Amino acid sequence: MIKNPNEIKVFITRDIPSVGIELLKKEGFEVSVWPNDRPMNRDELIEEGKKANAILTLLTDPVDINFLNECNHLDIISQFAVGYDNINIAEATRLGIPVGYAPGAMSAATADIAFGLMIAVSRKMFYMHKTIAKGEWTYFRPKANLGIELKNKTLGIFGLGRIGVEMAIRCKGAYNMKIIYHNRRPNKEAEQILNASLVSFEELLHQSDVLSVHSALNDETRGIFNKNAFSKMKPGSIFINTARGGIHKEQDLLDALNAGSIWGAGLDVTNPEPMDANNPLLSMPNVAVLPHIGSATVEARNEMSRLAAMNIIEFYKHNRIPNIVNPESLQRKTNIT
Ligand code: GLV
Repeated sequence: MIKNPNEIKVFITRDIPSVGIELLKKEGFEVSVWPNDRPMNRDELIEEGKKANAILTLLTDPVDINFLNECNHLDIISQFAVGYDNINIAEATRLGIPVGYAPGAMSAATADIAFGLMIAVSRKMFYMHKTIAKGEWTYFRPKANLGIELKNKTLGIFGLGRIGVEMAIRCKGAYNMKIIYHNRRPNKEAEQILNASLVSFEELLHQSDVLSVHSALNDETRGIFNKNAFSKMKPGSIFINTARGGIHKEQDLLDALNAGSIWGAGLDVTNPEPMDANNPLLSMPNVAVLPHIGSATVEARNEMSRLAAMNIIEFYKHNRIPNIVNPESLQRKTNIT
């Protein structure tokens, strides 16, 4: 299938940083952007998807079986994120629709949030901040609000990929933490840089003083941090999740904190999102919650925009997708003349 660039309609499901939009326009594509601040709903996504050749999606878009079958004409889907659990990859692959994504762009930014949450939890920072506004800063109290120190503690990484490595580098550099990790496959390069050891999931739970989640959400990881898992963690440990809320069971986390089977938790992702304003986690001293801002830096969002756009451009120009999730789908060849 050969197309002129100006025959290719690219639909972007939210207003992303302009760098990617400009790159697409420069190639001559007909680009349109969803004009509203809120995410698109299922019907709106299908309606716009039907008119497009390529679609640039966000993690809030339900790219499910229904969408994919209604829009099975799409040449490519390019996701403005490293995670793509909102996309039914098996179905896209079955339909021969390649899916691109944007890895690497947000590794440092997300690790900063994990690292920041870890410190905030260890010293009850978010909670203590709120006590001032409530007029509760009375006098210096020698035995009140004591945190715990991180020096020489053990960091357990669940999912040692790009973001996990960045988190481990920070923890090793700042606190000389010992690094252990649990992965499907060993990360030999990271083991060398970090002197990290691969351990079983059980060992990760048993040994970590800080357990930080950096894996994808999939059938293997969904709800893996549940009552049983939390019960095996150290009573003085901190649980951090900056990956996807679906990886932990929120009620089980709350119960574990209340029971003292873990010490604290820092979350940049919740289940569901947005978190309810009355969620009891928000008023616990040893908990810090952020509204999924891991990649929210100027640098990361610009790079995500560029990477997502380049997947589409390279696909039409050279039949290649620099960052592809399902390479086996690349059967349909589409060149620009
Ligand atoms: C953010 O959560 C991402 O997956 O990029």
